[in-house]
This record gives sequence, C-alpha cells and structure tokens, in this order.
Amino acid sequence: MILITGATGKLGSQVIQTLIDKNVPPNQIAALVRDETKAAHLKKKGIDIRISDYDNRPALQNAMEGIDKVLLVSGLDVSKVVKQHQNVVDAAKQAGVKCLAYTSNCLRDRNTLLNQVMLTHVETEDYIIASGLNYVIFRNVLYMDSMALFMIGGKNVLETGIQLPTGEGQVAYALRSDEAEAIGNVLAGEDCRNRIYNFTGSQAYSFADVADALSELSGKTVTYTPVDMETYQASARERGVPTQTVAMMAPFMTDIKNGQASTVSSDLADALGRKPVDLKAGLKQLLNL
Ligand SMILES: NC(=O)c1ccc[n+]([C@@H]2O[C@H](COP(=O)([O-])OP(=O)(O)OC[C@H]3O[C@@H](n4cnc5c(N)ncnc54)[C@H](OP(=O)(O)O)[C@@H]3O)[C@@H](O)[C@H]2O)c1
Repeated sequence: MILITGATGKLGSQVIQTLIDKNVPPNQIAALVRDETKAAHLKKKGIDIRISDYDNRPALQNAMEGIDKVLLVSGLDVSKVVKQHQNVVDAAKQAGVKCLAYTSNCLRDRNTLLNQVMLTHVETEDYIIASGLNYVIFRNVLYMDSMALFMIGGKNVLETGIQLPTGEGQVAYALRSDEAEAIGNVLAGEDCRNRIYNFTGSQAYSFADVADALSELSGKTVTYTPVDMETYQASARERGVPTQTVAMMAPFMTDIKNGQASTVSSDLADALGRKPVDLKAGLKQLLNL
C-alpha cells in the first residue's frame, strides 16, 4: 500500500492520478490529508483517506498503519518544516514502512546555497538517509509552472518584458505535471533501492531564452533585462509585494543567477519514457499561447 502525503495539493494529486492510470488499484493507495473535506473526490475513487498534519506525530503514526511505501511531499512552512519532515520519517520507521520517498529540490552545490528553503531539503535528505529506511529521493527542479506564474508574472509578461536579478543564470525547468508523472511511474514499480533522482528538463535555459520563447510563441517582442537586486526589490515594493516576500526573493534569485538550478540530467526522461516537455511547449501550455 502506498501513502501519498500532500494529496490535496497539486503535485500529490497528480502523482495519485498517475498511479491510477498505471492500474494501481485505488484500494492500494492511501492519501494523507489534513482537511478531510478537501479529499472527497479521492474518497469517491476508493482511495483510503488518512488524516494528519505533519506536526501531529501520534496521528502520523496511525496514518502509517499497513503502509509499505510513503511519498513525503515537502511542506511549505520554513520555520518548522524540517521538524515536520522528521515527524513523518520517524512515524514511518516506527510503523515498519519499507520505503520512504521524498520530494526534494535539484541543486548544484549545497555548500554555496543561499536560499533557506532549499537548505531544509538538504537537512531532510540527510535525516532520511541516516534513518536507515530504504529511500528514494526525487530532486525536482524549479517547476516551469512557478517560473511562468510567479517569476515572470503570467501573460502580462508579453507587455512588460522580464526584469529579474538573475543575470545569465540558467534553469533546467520541468513541468510540475511531468515531475508528478515520473514520480508516480517510479513509485508504481517495485524498486526502492536508496536512489536519488535528479528530475530536470533536458536543457537549461536563461531568462533570455525564456524571452525568446515567449516572442516566438506570441509574435510580440519580449525582452529580458537583467537588473541588480536593489532595483528589483525597489520595484517589487512599489508593486505592493510584502517586505518579507521581497526579502525572501533575494537568495532565491541569487541562487538562480549562480546556476544552482542549472543541472541537466536524463533521469526525468528515463522515468517518463519520453522527453520532458520543453520550455517553448511548456510556456505555450501554461500561458495558453
Ligand atoms: N520545485 C518547485 O519549483 C516547487 C515549487 C513550489 C513548491 N514546491 C514544493 O513542492 C511541494 C508540492 O508542490 P505543490 O505544487 O503540490 O504544492 P501545494 O499545491 O501547495 O501542495 C502542498 C500540499 O502539502 C500539504 N501540506 C502542507 N503543509 C502540511 C502539513 N503541515 N501537514 C500535512 N500536509 C501539509 C498541503 O495540504 P493542504 O491541501 O491541506 O494545504 C498540500 O496538500 C510543495 O509543498 C513545496 O515544498 C516545489
């Protein structure tokens, strides 16, 4: 039996759909959710609903009963997420789970990382590996979805162009849906051989490449202007972005500028059995171009 956490989220729900598409019987799938009302559609499909927050160690323990494999979808609250992940790992170990899978992030060099969120993945990976559980780690690259919607501002980019403090930094974007499908494919298989997958696109792209792809797709001239961090932050503040968010964007953007997300691997293509969706096709789909 496979337990998928974050099952009411975007990635987790797509992983569950892949398992169903691969003929894993719904009664062999369990979904960990913290709000049962959000899981009605999963229950309807015959999926076993288990209720717990990552904070609630006893409830996690109950939720792991009869489970062979767990996919831990990383949480979002930086201030406590490492402890939350540790709770899930400890509960899995205590319940006799045979395989712990985790959605991490694909980064070039953990020693020079600036983004604290990414460091929580590093800490979690270390904890899982030290736990003695059999593990699979999926190091997902930055979702193309996040770039298209949050970094360049959605379809408005066709009018505004791209101004980011990311220099010539490249990212090997992949669609969230491709990451989810690949995770589902791996989980549906028998193997749990302490493996780390680098789930990236087949090519790394700069924001100049993103601008070129948008120009080709839209027929408009979209430009990329690299800006310095102060200019970027001042403009974000002017647009009403909260101060805390502005502060958090600096290490995130600097890591991209420094090439932290530029690793290219064939792991995603191998797990999908096809090439991942590339930048141009992905942007066309995400921005409806
Ligand atoms: N690689 C990337 O570019 C990238 C981008 C964004 C996020 N991420 C990471 O990837 C994960 C999955 O992405 P997503 O797009 O599926 O995010 P999402 O739609 O926000 O889903 C996150 C899921 O985690 C659950 N969750 C959060 N905190 C929890 C807690 N304390 N206890 C139990 N469940 C909890 C949420 O439950 P509720 O439905 O109850 O809220 C939700 O189901 C994110 O959580 C984040 O760590 C990666």
